Amino acid sequence: MMTYRIVIFLLVIFSIQKIFGKQCLNDQWPPKSDRIVPTHVVNLDLPPVERWKEIATIYKPAIIDLVDYIKQFALSISPELQFLVSLVDTKLPAMADTLPAPYGDELKGISHTTGIPLGEIVLYNIFYEIFTLCTSIVAEDQNGNILHGRNLDFGLLLGWDMLNNTWTLSEKLRPLITQVNFTQHGQVLFKTTSFAGYIGVITGVRPGIFSISMNERYGFKGGYIGLIEWIFNINRNQSFVTFAMRDMLTTSESYNQAVEYLTKIKLTAPCYYILAGPKSKQGVIITRSRYEADDIKQLGNDNLWFLIETNYDNWKKPPVFDDRITPCIECMKTKGKNQVTFESLFNVFSSRPMLNKLTVYTALMEPATGRLESYYQYCRDEDAPCAPW
Ligand SMILES: *[C@@H]1O[C@H](CO)[C@@H](O)[C@H](O)[C@H]1NC(C)=O
Ligand SMILES: *[C@@H]1O[C@H](CO)[C@@H](O)[C@H](O)[C@H]1NC(C)=O
Ligand SMILES: *[C@@H]1O[C@H](CO)[C@@H](O)[C@H](O)[C@H]1NC(C)=O
Repeated sequence: MMTYRIVIFLLVIFSIQKIFGKQCLNDQWPPKSDRIVPTHVVNLDLPPVERWKEIATIYKPAIIDLVDYIKQFALSISPELQFLVSLVDTKLPAMADTLPAPYGDELKGISHTTGIPLGEIVLYNIFYEIFTLCTSIVAEDQNGNILHGRNLDFGLLLGWDMLNNTWTLSEKLRPLITQVNFTQHGQVLFKTTSFAGYIGVITGVRPGIFSISMNERYGFKGGYIGLIEWIFNINRNQSFVTFAMRDMLTTSESYNQAVEYLTKIKLTAPCYYILAGPKSKQGVIITRSRYEADDIKQLGNDNLWFLIETNYDNWKKPPVFDDRITPCIECMKTKGKNQVTFESLFNVFSSRPMLNKLTVYTALMEPATGRLESYYQYCRDEDAPCAPW
């Protein structure tokens, strides 16, 4: 444990991304077929308790594996997780009933299908609101077509596997990645890239209306307060960050409506919402604190043809130990405005340090058509050593 901490400390001091170098690759597309994330269907016409039955049945062993790992590892590493795990049998089962419909019943259905206690399913769902590092990009080409993509990086400091040189959690998470078609009246209402058994949304697109991704906003006041307020019923006049996204995908009829809602709604935690729409200049990064938007950065202003968000406020310099945005901006500029395609974005997301050992998937979205493609990502040390984050 001690040596591991020292290694991390030294990496921070020497600014790992300088050591591991940066890339702007051209030849990563198309990914091989074993990299394609499978798609499953959640039928919104079914009662909430039945909607996740198929997915929960297929992924049951992987969900159990991850929940067991969270419980076991929490005890040694994260105070927030320790606290949540201590509530797993007492407060968390009852929490399902405090969530707005249909979420409580959906969680009960997943618990019933998998046989995993409800408190642990609630823990598993809260967990994703806490530990995500990511990169999101929205870009517009010279004809006004807009694409939106994201890397999901997950599992920082939750256990380094010395034997395999990987983050244990990221390895356990990859088998759970799935695309979901949410259908209503026989049609696809919206699509997401998610983790089996997780009912909120981190990445999603409603065809013809908008696409959305969320990045964690760290070290900012209010991180866990909202969750504690919710659990202990101090204040429930707020929405969970990823449920607000799903609400918008379900109900929003326009890009502007989604932007306005996610700018104003009270949240349990700070975050970055990145949205894109089908029309020129429809792209935005909303920097959220719990009760208001601290900043709204628009595509198209100051001739910006792309927006990038990692996990830091866009008006500040990123920390030296985690500067993924500068190489990402350079790579987008190298590709240029005439190369806004799934291929070009995938190449950017597959370049280091946007790709690192925490990266589990890349998702690519086209709001105008609803096209969504997701690929498993691995950062291997074979050609060159890969940065841990
Ligand atoms: C999901 O929806 C897309 C259309 O948006 C369709 O092409 C695909 O076949 C659907 N997948 C499944 C598993 O139903
Ligand atoms: C780590 O490597 C060992 C031996 O190569 C392998 O059996 C094991 O499954 C790996 N663990 C993970 C989490 O990938
Ligand atoms: C929550 O909202 C309700 C209705 O708007 C209000 O009566 C209540 O005082 C609010 N509670 C808090 C803690 O803000």
